[in-house]
Amino acid sequence: MSETENTQRRYDRLAPIYDAMEAGVELLAFERWRKRLWSQVEGRHVLEIGVGTGKNFDHYPSGTRVTGIDLSSQMLSRARQRLQQRPQRNSNLIQMDAQRLAFADDVFDSAVATFVFCSVPLPVQGLHELARVVRPGGQVLLLEHVRINRPVVGPLMDALDPVIVRVMGAHIARQTEENVRRAGLEIESVTELAPGELVKLIHARVRAQTVE
Ligand SMILES: C[S@@+](CC[C@H](N)C(=O)[O-])C[C@H]1O[C@@H](n2cnc3c(N)ncnc32)[C@H](O)[C@@H]1O
Repeated sequence: MSETENTQRRYDRLAPIYDAMEAGVELLAFERWRKRLWSQVEGRHVLEIGVGTGKNFDHYPSGTRVTGIDLSSQMLSRARQRLQQRPQRNSNLIQMDAQRLAFADDVFDSAVATFVFCSVPLPVQGLHELARVVRPGGQVLLLEHVRINRPVVGPLMDALDPVIVRVMGAHIARQTEENVRRAGLEIESVTELAPGELVKLIHARVRAQTVE
C-alpha cells in the first residue's frame, strides 16, 4: 500500500474521534491561531487544503468562495455535516490529493492549510501543487507544527516520528519552512506561535512572473 493510501486510511480511522481528540488544544490555542491566520487571507477565491472536519469554516472571511479538499472521505463527511449547519458559507468540498490537484494553473487567489503538511506524504510535491494553482503573486498561508531544530529535542523528535505517524497520522519532525522554500515559494514572514518554535504561521507567496 502506498504512503498516501496509508495516510487516507489513518484519517478515515481517526475521523470519528478527531474533534474530541483535539478539543483541549483547540480551546487553549488552535482556535485563536486559526482566527489569526484567516484574518490575513486575501482575495475572493480561496483553496483550503486538508479541510479535515471543517474546523476553519467559522473563520472563512465573508465574501470569499472557499474550495476545500481532503484525502479522507470520512473527515470530509464530517466537514459536510458541519457545513450543512452553516448554510451561509459559500464553499464546496471535494475529495482530492494535495499532491495531485485536479485544478488548472493560477485559479486561486490564496491557499490555506492548517496542520496538514505534517501528514502529506510528499510535502514538497504538495506545496509545488499549491504554487501551480495559486495565481502569481497570490498567497499561501500555513499553520503548522514543525521539528524543533535544537540539540537533543530535534533528534528525539526524529526518533519518535515514525511511531507517532502510525498512531496520529502526523509527522512531528517536518521541516516545513524549508519545504516551502524547496517548492519555490517566497516566504514573506514566519510567526512563532508556541514556545520552543514548535508551531509556526508561515506566510508565503507565489513568485510573480517576470517578463524577459
Ligand atoms: C491533522 S488533520 C488537520 C485537519 C484540519 N486542517 C484542521 O485544522 O483541523 C490533517 C488533514 O490533512 C488531510 N491530508 C493528509 N494528506 C493529504 C493529502 N495528500 N491531500 C489532501 N489532504 C490530506 C488528512 O486527511 C486530514 O484531514
